[in-house]
Amino acid sequence: MSELQQAAKRAVGKHVASMIESGMRLGIGTGSTAALAIEELGIRVRNEGLDIAGVATSFSAERLAREHGIRLTTLDETPRLDLAFDGADEVDPDFNLIKGRGAAQTREKIVAAQAAKFVVLIDESKMVDKLGTRMPLPVEVVPMAAVPVMQVLSSLGADSEIRMGLKKDGPVVSDQGMWIIDARFEEITDPEHVNRRLLMTPGVVDHGLFLGMATTVLVGRSDGKVDVLTRD
Ligand code: 5RP
Repeated sequence: MSELQQAAKRAVGKHVASMIESGMRLGIGTGSTAALAIEELGIRVRNEGLDIAGVATSFSAERLAREHGIRLTTLDETPRLDLAFDGADEVDPDFNLIKGRGAAQTREKIVAAQAAKFVVLIDESKMVDKLGTRMPLPVEVVPMAAVPVMQVLSSLGADSEIRMGLKKDGPVVSDQGMWIIDARFEEITDPEHVNRRLLMTPGVVDHGLFLGMATTVLVGRSDGKVDVLTRD
């Protein structure tokens, strides 16, 4: 990651941390941008004694939140959240997203769906005209369904592959013990159709299309400024 990109990510992390008020219940996102927001939030907890608790979207977010002194809760205890923050891999002009580079999209979607506000943290390189043009779509599957799901993805126009571990032999295993299929489209012309088709396919746990969920997008610029985009 370049220094400019890091500055943009830090800026949105700081911005979302400044939106949090004492008493709020949060969704805590996963990835390098969400990690900076967790760090900034931790500073506020330490310096201002902010009383917050959050539901983590992954083992990784859980460990980071704990490290930075942010109290953790669960959806069992706290099913309604005031605000969830998270990164994204692509954001289109209608605030639809692709998420899941970190294989956390299933928990990320569950948590975001419980929040009154879903704040997405990106730098400007993540803005796209059409989803699927920059990143593949991650699809989480029960391992025995991998090939049938890849056939469905092929019928939708995608070339797909099972995501392989980097410091592990064999497939990446998600926090739920599932596999991830990365589906590369030229572009996703009809995200609603892809969403419906995947969710009705046996063996698909969930996928990285987040449609109509984001309420605010914070776009970090390389000069450290943040554009705040909100949906009516
Ligand atoms: C993890 C995600 C991340 O939020 C997304 O990949 C963005 O990550 P980063 O902020 O590191 O670019 O969806 O599953």
